[in-house]
Amino acid sequence: MMFQYLNTERQTMAGYQMDETRFLSSIAKRKYPHDETVRMLSAPRKEGVISLNLGEPDFAPPQFLFDGLDAAGKKGYGPPIGMPGLREGIARKLKSSNGIDASMENIAVTCGATEALFLSAMASLNPKDEVILPEPCFSVMKGMFEVFGASVIDLPLKQDEQFEVNPDELAKQVGEKTKCIYLNSPSNPTGAILSRKILEEIADIAVDRDLFVISDEAYESLVYEGEHVSIASLNGMFDRTILVYTLSKTWAMPGFRLGYMCAPDFIIQAAAKLHLYTTVCAPLFSQALGLRVLEKADSMRLFLSEAKKEYEKRRDFITYRLNEAGLWTHKPKGAFYAFSDIRQFSKTSSDFSKALLEEANVLAMPGSDFGPSGEGFMRFSYAASMKNIEDAMDRIDAFARKNKSFSKNA
Ligand SMILES: Cc1ncc(COP(=O)(O)O)c(C=O)c1O
Repeated sequence: MMFQYLNTERQTMAGYQMDETRFLSSIAKRKYPHDETVRMLSAPRKEGVISLNLGEPDFAPPQFLFDGLDAAGKKGYGPPIGMPGLREGIARKLKSSNGIDASMENIAVTCGATEALFLSAMASLNPKDEVILPEPCFSVMKGMFEVFGASVIDLPLKQDEQFEVNPDELAKQVGEKTKCIYLNSPSNPTGAILSRKILEEIADIAVDRDLFVISDEAYESLVYEGEHVSIASLNGMFDRTILVYTLSKTWAMPGFRLGYMCAPDFIIQAAAKLHLYTTVCAPLFSQALGLRVLEKADSMRLFLSEAKKEYEKRRDFITYRLNEAGLWTHKPKGAFYAFSDIRQFSKTSSDFSKALLEEANVLAMPGSDFGPSGEGFMRFSYAASMKNIEDAMDRIDAFARKNKSFSKNA
């Protein structure tokens, strides 16, 4: 009876000319760089399309992580800041693997790195604060900072500098209102890694100009050349850094939505308070999985070393094939993305990605989604299976041969 009443009401309402935008916030109405890609991703997928689009590992996490886990026993709410045992374990991991002297008071467990980034911004930014954003970068970052009214200052990264942050250029962007620098190493989408020397120079700027850093280390374990350094381990930086991590990439678990942040305790207390306005807490089942990952560290190291070997093989293959097809691609040092120069084919990466999907049935991300300096590039994820990568490369090769003169028509 009740449902019938509701239906009737809706039908009646549908008869009116409703101004839907009246109910949307200005944040929701804003246009974001990756809006078009989100639409493309949400559209029904044509049959036979190979996706090198998402950073979603094709590996399954090891079965022993799940064996004997009592899912029903994890049905309740947990503390907003995360389960104490997991936070203690994470603090130990940060000490042994990242050289960071953190305690559990410095850790908050989140729904993936995305929520850790969101809470970091929510806990620290006021409207009109400026955030320096080296770009091309993880596509949601600009929008996420702008949600809080912050102004984003782009720091363009250059292909001929292998997309590394240039500290001198960074220093030039710091102004009166600058509060924060976002860093992401290894980088999505370029695979660049910030060296210890560059991080030390950035740390000097942060200390000198009284800034804090949000250091997104989602790909910390996927390093093929060089070393991963956490900026918080450098002198004077622990007190002015929010570190962000996830289990999505290293441990192939994006669907479990588990991440964490490490920061000075006043930031963590703020994040715990603000957690009540977002997700309350990360799912307890996922937190139990996170604890398993830490408890089974030796077996997990083995899993990771096998995964890394496989990614490295795919990286070498995809870089070779993309270059051979005329899509100039440097060898990424970390993460699992190839970032290819497509300027000889098309004026815009958006046109290129649409044509690639329509003509070659390959889905990949246009570089412009990652910021203005990503224009003229495409991002290909090699977190896909080797078979899919091989087939996609054959298709891209044929597409490139056919479209050598694409740019003239674009
Ligand atoms: C640099 C970077 N940070 C954070 C995330 C978010 O990861 P999560 O799945 O943990 O939310 C991603 C996901 O692609 C990423 O590339």
